[in-house]
Amino acid sequence: MCLIPVHNNMNLAIIGTGYVGLTTGTCFAEVGHNVVCVDNNQAKVEALREGRVPIYEPDLEEMILSNVSAGRLSFTTELAKAVKTCDIIFIAVPTPPHEDGSVDLSYIESVSHEIADVITPEMGYRVIVDKSTVPVSTGSKVYQVIARYAKGNVDVDVVSNPEFLREGSAVSDLMNPDRVVIGADSQRAMDLMKRVYQPFNAPIVEVDLHSAELIKHAANSFLALKISYINAVSAVCEKAGADVELVAQGIGMDKRISRHFLNAGLGYGGSCFPKDVKGFINVADQLGAPMTILKEVENINEQQLERFLKRLRKKLWVLRKKRIAVWGLAFKQNTDDVRESVAIKLIKRLCDEGACVTAYDPKAAQTGAAALAGYDVTIADDMYECTRDAEILIVATEWKQFAMANLVKVREMMRLPIIFDGRNLLHGENALHAGFEYHSIGRKTLRPQ
Ligand SMILES: NC(=O)c1ccc[n+]([C@@H]2O[C@H](COP(=O)([O-])OP(=O)(O)OC[C@H]3O[C@@H](n4cnc5c(N)ncnc54)[C@H](O)[C@@H]3O)[C@@H](O)[C@H]2O)c1
Repeated sequence: MCLIPVHNNMNLAIIGTGYVGLTTGTCFAEVGHNVVCVDNNQAKVEALREGRVPIYEPDLEEMILSNVSAGRLSFTTELAKAVKTCDIIFIAVPTPPHEDGSVDLSYIESVSHEIADVITPEMGYRVIVDKSTVPVSTGSKVYQVIARYAKGNVDVDVVSNPEFLREGSAVSDLMNPDRVVIGADSQRAMDLMKRVYQPFNAPIVEVDLHSAELIKHAANSFLALKISYINAVSAVCEKAGADVELVAQGIGMDKRISRHFLNAGLGYGGSCFPKDVKGFINVADQLGAPMTILKEVENINEQQLERFLKRLRKKLWVLRKKRIAVWGLAFKQNTDDVRESVAIKLIKRLCDEGACVTAYDPKAAQTGAAALAGYDVTIADDMYECTRDAEILIVATEWKQFAMANLVKVREMMRLPIIFDGRNLLHGENALHAGFEYHSIGRKTLRPQ
């Protein structure tokens, strides 16, 4: 990781020290800014102060420790102090979905109030930056709350700076962004924001506030659409006897399309895509410009898991009392995040049907166990042990170590030689040579002679 010296270092506050706030704040400190991360979760702040990092993200822990010891990164529960000392205040709190799919903006509203309570005209100019993913026109509402409740005429601009990091490679994504989107309706705020990002050497997309907010929802929805597209194609491939991986390769080499996000599997999950697609559908409906295409994206995503379960039942008949090993709990590789993980949904469905599930994940054992509380699932602490006496092995998350597994050893552990690869991760021929019947997504089943 190369450290880029900043001559124009600034004092930055990040409110909300989760996956986005903690990694963003750390990377800002890494390039030389002075960063204070604020969170209202006392236990989290205490852990961070003691050098314990509450989430898993490659390279994050060492970067936090080095920036804390360099005096550029600190953690607090005191929002007031951060607002007083920092030029720019980033908001990175959750924006979960309501039952009806609309975005719950109560965390954003509550932080806006807290800022209004402590900000004063004497503090001088402040830029409030929305980094959370929010519906278009949220920034204007944040401004209204601050202007309405602050004591006196405060000098504030609200900016949108959506975050595009991917969990599992968040540090690398933040240090080398494809682009940085800054939505500001004031040149003064835009200039300050450009100073923040100057050390990252990335192209900056300068837009108005509303367009920046929309870019994030539209981008995530488009990526979800690509995933659902290839998953719909995978269903056709299964019927037609074609191979979805070859189809994805063939279409992905077209630069207009690209191979990224054309991986057939169990469907998308995680803390962003499901809620952001729902949020965008809701916003568009409210604006009277419905994004009906996204309803189909959701529908295909749900059907992908149903089709997989149907194929499992076809193979094993009744799932009750069947011993099923599941590799993967996290919603994707290289993270401990299980929010909206398809692996967790799959395990819950298997348990509901009476299967005896043993699962393994390299990093998400703890978060996975918490998400599966109340379900009778054994969490193994070794990927091979997980498969002991299993009648079927399901690959639910695309961890590299699963792809590298010794399948002969796995075969020796299992009762029946059947693999259902929900991520097209394993090498089918290797599975076949190890004696497995190998089922995957959108491809022919491989069976030993
Ligand atoms: N996780 C991602 O990959 C990702 C990527 C891009 C954008 N986003 C968006 O970023 C936002 C944050 O997501 P996240 O995954 O980091 O969430 P998170 O749940 O991991 O973290 C949010 C943090 O905010 C804290 N918080 C809540 N209310 C607070 C308050 N009033 N004061 C101080 N702290 C408060 C919580 O304690 C928590 O630590 C969401 O809008 C999300 O959609 C997430």
